[in-house]
Amino acid sequence: MDPKVSKADQALRKILGEKRLKGVEDRRVASEVFDQNTLETLYKLANRGYLNLLKGAISTGKEANVFKGVHEEGNFLAVKIYRINTSDFKKMQYYIQGDPRFKVRTTNKRQLVFTWVNKEYRNLKRSYEAGIKVPKPILAKNNVLLMEFIGDEEGNPAPLLINKPPDNPDKAFKSLLKSIKKLYYDAKLVHGDLSAFNVLNYEEKMVIIDMSQSLVVDHPLSRELLERDLANIALYFKKFGISKTIEELKLEIYN
Ligand SMILES: Nc1ncnc2c1ncn2[C@@H]1O[C@H](COP(=O)(O)OP(=O)(O)OP(=O)(O)O)[C@@H](O)[C@H]1O
Ligand SMILES: [Mg+2]
Repeated sequence: MDPKVSKADQALRKILGEKRLKGVEDRRVASEVFDQNTLETLYKLANRGYLNLLKGAISTGKEANVFKGVHEEGNFLAVKIYRINTSDFKKMQYYIQGDPRFKVRTTNKRQLVFTWVNKEYRNLKRSYEAGIKVPKPILAKNNVLLMEFIGDEEGNPAPLLINKPPDNPDKAFKSLLKSIKKLYYDAKLVHGDLSAFNVLNYEEKMVIIDMSQSLVVDHPLSRELLERDLANIALYFKKFGISKTIEELKLEIYN
């Protein structure tokens, strides 16, 4: 037997547990996400003790799928797996260029996605260490990012802000602005894709996610993207009667 296939098979069994891939939909997602290389990466992570089991998908997006992983009994983690083929390489290259942390110039697509995943890991780490509410990153390996699972003890993931409006919009708005400011001055980052689609409402705490595109403040695009983030947040909170202009928000951040 081809040793690669059996290795992948072993990985699949180990990571997906016994009741693996029953539905057609599951199988479609699996074949799309778990190419040979990804399986091997997951296998290594399992062998190194980072991951015991992959449960269902929390989200199947354009570029990445997020799964609920189990480390030890009752200890969940979020497993974000980037697909190589459907990645937006132009966007990745555009954001990576101009970021002094990444000197590598590559046209190798796989390598570019790996750098992108590493960038998300480092952005989360910087933010987490600056005390901003983001999932604590655990490890980035190839196209797989392991991070803290944001959700309840039974393993239900926190809803997105867009799907679960805040009980106290004023408080949520202030908390997000505070995070944006801390991100800018303490972590020296701009999120770059902030909106109610990239904030989890975890028991009324605003947790910012999805930081692969986040930029260092001295990146030439950072101001423009910060202002877009502010505009998105202002627009979302407008429907709760919070009407701050972009100019007012800019003053709050830059002062
Ligand atoms: N740490 C986490 N804990 C719980 N749920 C998470 C976590 N990270 C992500 N999710 C869930 O997975 C979804 C997708 O995550 P994320 O926003 O990071 O990926 P994405 O790059 O937006 O994917 P795409 O844009 O391709 O849809 C989120 O909307 C959220 O529901
Ligand atoms: Mg997202």
